[in-house]
Amino acid sequence: MSVAKRDLENRKVTTHRLIEMKRRGEKISMLTAYDYSMARIIDEAGMDVILVGDSASNVMAGNVTTLPITLDQMIYHGKSVMKAVKRALVAVDLPFGSYQGNSKEAVASAIRVMKETHADCLKLEGGEEIRDSIVRILSAGIPVMGHLGLTPQSINKFGTYTVRAKEEAEAEKLLSDAHMLEEIGCFGVVLEKIPAALAAQVASELTIPVIGIGAGGGVDGQVLVMHDMLGLTQGFSPRFLRRYADLENIITGAVQAYIEDVKTLDFPNEKEQY
Ligand code: KIV
Repeated sequence: MSVAKRDLENRKVTTHRLIEMKRRGEKISMLTAYDYSMARIIDEAGMDVILVGDSASNVMAGNVTTLPITLDQMIYHGKSVMKAVKRALVAVDLPFGSYQGNSKEAVASAIRVMKETHADCLKLEGGEEIRDSIVRILSAGIPVMGHLGLTPQSINKFGTYTVRAKEEAEAEKLLSDAHMLEEIGCFGVVLEKIPAALAAQVASELTIPVIGIGAGGGVDGQVLVMHDMLGLTQGFSPRFLRRYADLENIITGAVQAYIEDVKTLDFPNEKEQY
């Protein structure tokens, strides 16, 4: 690769660059991160977008749903990630309860996240119901990514984590919400767990990037939860999840080897002391 091309690749990823990538047909990679150490590795590996997802509620805090995580906790994760990331675009999820009440509360939450984390943009779940909140946040100059389909903050309304928008009425609402998000100025949208054909239709009709999770290959990019794809979560194996590593076994092996070495006086040896 030429130096000029490498410099271009190493440029900070912006919302505009994602839109350019969609235009060129270059797929967008997106992965979650919640802490400094993992964010540094993921960024240096060349990820386009890092999402400080409210899935931190599940994988970092051990909650069953994303609902309990607070704005302060999301800010803590966002700050940690931002200290590590040099290249990727960083999006922070606004958590449940911080933007649904009214647009004034939404913009106050959004401004706090941007001021305190230095993140590049925000992600919010929902369509028409939260239109006013998104408009107000956008008018404060904060880039917003939408999130439609399976929106985990509404799990108590859905009652299950099964595929969304299989029925015509829900598919039509999703399509109209996606167009609305583009029209009001969102720079992208995540589609979670919906039929691949519907997701591909949304991606072909919108000019902004559509990032899928469980939404097939006809979209502009893919996002996964880091703990799931690295094999750090148990009892969660939806069809869309590809595991790229089995870190649970690797970590267990390393921890057990350390325990063994301590018990048998193998660690520390003479070279490992002062
Ligand atoms: O919180 C999260 O990790 C997410 C992804 C599943 C898109 O919103």
